[in-house]
Amino acid sequence: MEQIWVFCVLLVFVASLVNAEVHFHEFIIQETPVKRLCRVHNSITVNGQFPGPTLEVRNGDSLVITAINKARYNISLHWHGIRQMRNPWADGPEYITQCPIKPGGSYTYRFNIEEQEGTLWWHAHSRWLRATVYGALIIRPPLSSPHYPFPVLPKREFTLLLGEWWDRNPMDVLNLAQFTGAAPNVSDAFTINGQPGDFYRCSSRETLRFLVGSGETVLLRVINSALNQELFFGVANHKLTVVAADASYTKPFTTNVIMLGPGQTTDVLLTADQPPAHYYMAAHAYNSANAPFDNTTTTAILQYKDAPCVTSKSQAGAIPAQLPGFNDTATAAAFTAQMKSPSKVEVPLEIQEDLFFTVGLGLFNCPTPNTQRCQGPNGTRFTASINNVSFVFPKRNSIMQAYYQGTPAGVFTTDFPPVPPTTFDYTGNVSRGLWQPTRGTKAYKLKYKSKVQVILQDTSIVTTENHPMHLHGYEFYVVGTGIGNFNANKDTSSFNLIDPPRRNTIGTPPGGWIAIRFVADNPGVWLMHCHLDSHIFWGLAMVFLVENGEGHLQSVQSPPLDLPRC
Ligand code: C2O
Repeated sequence: MEQIWVFCVLLVFVASLVNAEVHFHEFIIQETPVKRLCRVHNSITVNGQFPGPTLEVRNGDSLVITAINKARYNISLHWHGIRQMRNPWADGPEYITQCPIKPGGSYTYRFNIEEQEGTLWWHAHSRWLRATVYGALIIRPPLSSPHYPFPVLPKREFTLLLGEWWDRNPMDVLNLAQFTGAAPNVSDAFTINGQPGDFYRCSSRETLRFLVGSGETVLLRVINSALNQELFFGVANHKLTVVAADASYTKPFTTNVIMLGPGQTTDVLLTADQPPAHYYMAAHAYNSANAPFDNTTTTAILQYKDAPCVTSKSQAGAIPAQLPGFNDTATAAAFTAQMKSPSKVEVPLEIQEDLFFTVGLGLFNCPTPNTQRCQGPNGTRFTASINNVSFVFPKRNSIMQAYYQGTPAGVFTTDFPPVPPTTFDYTGNVSRGLWQPTRGTKAYKLKYKSKVQVILQDTSIVTTENHPMHLHGYEFYVVGTGIGNFNANKDTSSFNLIDPPRRNTIGTPPGGWIAIRFVADNPGVWLMHCHLDSHIFWGLAMVFLVENGEGHLQSVQSPPLDLPRC
């Protein structure tokens, strides 16, 4: 008893020393009228805001967020990129770490920010609700050392959430696709902080303006919160200096354009060093797949305070931004290749878990092709898989709860394969016999603190594609990448084990591979999936089950009492 008392006093003392704060929020999830593209939609929002509220904290702070579900759908919330050490209960993916919050229910997410700084975000992790349920999560340096390690300290900061908008209820778009087996409809607009901008109908009055003074340097926190689309982003006539990505600092480098997959964030410095005027900030698709996509462009305006007034009524008179072509993989790859950690980092060297995962699409054959439920290519149904396992989300319990209670039977198994069941030319002309995966809810077990390498190999089944792969509960180093099939003998020697970038989401190059490494130091059940939501429900996901170490400081905490039940 006395020990606990001393511990508590110590904790309060340490907390006050570093000025750590606890932030309390109430997130009311509800239907809200939102007018976009000339029509009013009843969108699901948080606190009536679209995008949702921005969370602003400092490294070392804690968050207590009570989610109250007043909508008509099951929902859960995910804090994308937060490590949630020993605390999978607050991670959020439905049926993975918690059962969803039912309409009328509530759940309080409690978690700490430990050793993380930069731009993250939060979003719904149920079905397609994140189309409108998302917001920024900004972590500033602690008060004890409050400065950014940037070449120039920014005068102001702007957050730009790049989103995707459907003219129909996104949940209906998903339901239709799940019924027919065809690809879901592409979006009708992209948005910046919820606004499509000047190039869409009924939108230019609300186009966002970001004001800067001549000569000022500003920090742009750019977040790709789109559902299904990698995006190029740039600002007319201005260079961008990349200083961080996924809440990890990078070696600064300068570029005209950045590319982000859904889930990724990039912090850039921009200096207002051009003649005072209005400049478009723009984003459009980077489309790597052989598939339909939304080819529209969203814009906001970077407006110099001393810019001459614009007189023309119809046009904003802004200077247009140049973006790469939609399929410009060379530019996307060259940009990503420049990302490096600021200095030497501790990359795991002796690998204990050497994993090779094929990621890609597939097709399920139908007993009677071309029926209502088989509207995919040649009368099939679309699917996707990792190592030929198409992930099925459980329904009766979450994987984490079943694991914690010791009742995995009927919920999940731990036989996820470390390598694909057959070896083939992954990026070549794949025979049709290999296009059909098997279904399963399989986890891969990792020993506590084991050193893990995963090669994520895109396949050419149906189409090659950039798959933005996101791992929950971790940050990993991206040590290598290449085109074609990964070849351990030749490719391993070129890995960057000195200053590779640290990320929580990384795209496979279309028809290529990436190599990631991490230490399994966070026990719990952690989802890894493609952050294109159209691919998640097809099964492009798997789960790592990281075992406890020794003692309670290396073990998953006990679940909160209000954890939702299925
Ligand atoms: Cu940003 Cu599993 O999610």
